[in-house]
Amino acid sequence: MNPMNTPPAQGGILIEGLRKVYGHGDTAVEALKHVNMQVAPGEVVGLVGPSGSGKSTLLKCLGAIIEPTSGKMTLGNEVIYDNGWTVKDLRALRRDRIGFVFQAPYLIPFLDVTDNVALLPMLAGLPNAQARSRALELLTALDVQHRARAEPSQLSGGEQQRVSIARALANKPPVILADEPTAPLDSERALAVMRILNQMARQAQTAIIVVTHDEKIIPTFRRIYHIRDGQTVEEAGEGRALEDSAHA
Ligand SMILES: Nc1ncnc2c1ncn2[C@@H]1O[C@H](COP(=O)(O)OP(=O)(O)O)[C@@H](O)[C@H]1O
Ligand SMILES: [Mg+2]
Repeated sequence: MNPMNTPPAQGGILIEGLRKVYGHGDTAVEALKHVNMQVAPGEVVGLVGPSGSGKSTLLKCLGAIIEPTSGKMTLGNEVIYDNGWTVKDLRALRRDRIGFVFQAPYLIPFLDVTDNVALLPMLAGLPNAQARSRALELLTALDVQHRARAEPSQLSGGEQQRVSIARALANKPPVILADEPTAPLDSERALAVMRILNQMARQAQTAIIVVTHDEKIIPTFRRIYHIRDGQTVEEAGEGRALEDSAHA
């Protein structure tokens, strides 16, 4: 199935009573105790908490990278986990329905910037020329189009991070999970990234979770989940208009 041709996502993200314990017995760590979270299609929410509070664990569970211990997770209209995985093909789930932005960019060193971004849409069946022009559009939106033919090792840390964001957006996944995406960026670029994520959310009805403790972007969220000791508490954010902050 070609995800580029599927209609926009419906239903967003729903997490109910999620628990994750690493290890067993004396060395067991309860990283998530009872996490509840909801993200509507078209919404960008912040996930904020001290180091070791379970932020990455939560994203990895939701992204089907690690298996939770118990609870329930729903993506779109489909329950993907209910005290056990309820979808058969976790690889297809990760590839077609979830866009990841990691702290480290993990670009493929022997592909140029354009092909790093175009690769997933190509794998999903989009003709190469279309995949490349989509990649170039995203690189332009992220202001790295001048590096389109470069190899990842020739880019600065900030440029690499913007390329990895373009890559996460390339398949138009219904869900984007970003772990500290703006950490290596200056204030203006960090806000530019948030502007693109918000545009993407609005236009493609993507549900987006951004893990951060970046003071530059926290005021942009309308809703924030604070995580502490493996439990989440929801709070209203400032929801500052990005158009305004970009010109400030
Ligand atoms: N693979 C693992 N094995 C054992 N414990 C882990 C593992 N990954 C994370 N933890 C523990 O789970 C807790 C939450 O970690 P993590 O989700 O990485 O937090 P954060 O991303 O908020 O810093 C921490 O106590 C951490 O040490
Ligand atoms: Mg982390």
